[in-house]
Amino acid sequence: MGKEVIERIKELKKERNAVILAHNYQIGEVQDVADFVGDSFGLSRKAAETDADVIVFCGVKFMAESAKILSPEKTVLLPEKEAGCPLASMVDVDGLKEMKKKYPGATVVTYVNSTAAVKAESDICCTSSNALKVVESVPGNQVLFVPDKNLGQYVARRTSKEVIIWDGYCTTHHRVDPEEVKEVKAAHPDAPIVVHPECPPEVVELADHVDSTAGILKYCRESEADTIIVGTEQGLIHRLNKENPDKKFFVLSPKLICPNMKKTNLDKVLKSLEKMETRVEIPENIRTRAYNALKKMLEVK
Ligand code: 13P
Repeated sequence: MGKEVIERIKELKKERNAVILAHNYQIGEVQDVADFVGDSFGLSRKAAETDADVIVFCGVKFMAESAKILSPEKTVLLPEKEAGCPLASMVDVDGLKEMKKKYPGATVVTYVNSTAAVKAESDICCTSSNALKVVESVPGNQVLFVPDKNLGQYVARRTSKEVIIWDGYCTTHHRVDPEEVKEVKAAHPDAPIVVHPECPPEVVELADHVDSTAGILKYCRESEADTIIVGTEQGLIHRLNKENPDKKFFVLSPKLICPNMKKTNLDKVLKSLEKMETRVEIPENIRTRAYNALKKMLEVK
């Protein structure tokens, strides 16, 4: 059954001139059928560069939206239309407009975990891999950082700019408790702890390295440690195990499961290619403004 589904996906991919992009948090079978697996930044880049006609985006909605914003002439399919992101829902256009009025001199730096409409109201986007670089790159000394407060804190502690932080958070990473980190440290005293900057600042402070999912993969590839504790969504373990068969990886907390990332499976990928659904569409007046914010991010050196 599994094999047949994979063969059918491959056939349809050729027929439709489609590319499958998957986020590092997707379940293993979906990662394994993808043409590219990556972090938000890598996936945005791929979406902007691909010459395929169809992008099947295995991730959550804001990621598929970014692909459509960057490649409007392509058909972008989200195999699971209910794959949302609670963090992206924590800021809306009206609320952001009010904050902009309150801080008229601030540059709005918006994390890609946001809707297309919110991106359209922003000066520039960032991902977890380039947030500090983006903040440092913008003119002026005041930044309004939207919507992740933990990533915002991470940046604020490392820049001399004034960072006004929106009160949003990733419901998966935010649940990690510093007590859990201390317990894991006691159980594996020699193992480095690497965490995603969406974790609370008290957790970030206890980590040996803080990075995006692609950064965590790089750190683990290069590390000489044979055991590493990973503080991000557990889907990343699939790739870590595949790339580092001689190393052991433990997830920092059993709470690190994103239910939205787990909604996509091979059957849904196949159905999506068969029926060409669910198509991601963005009104052009929103898309062009959101495009400017994403494009600026991709240009930051
Ligand atoms: P990365 O850009 O590090 O892959 O993070 C994506 C994300 O949404 C984390 O919750």
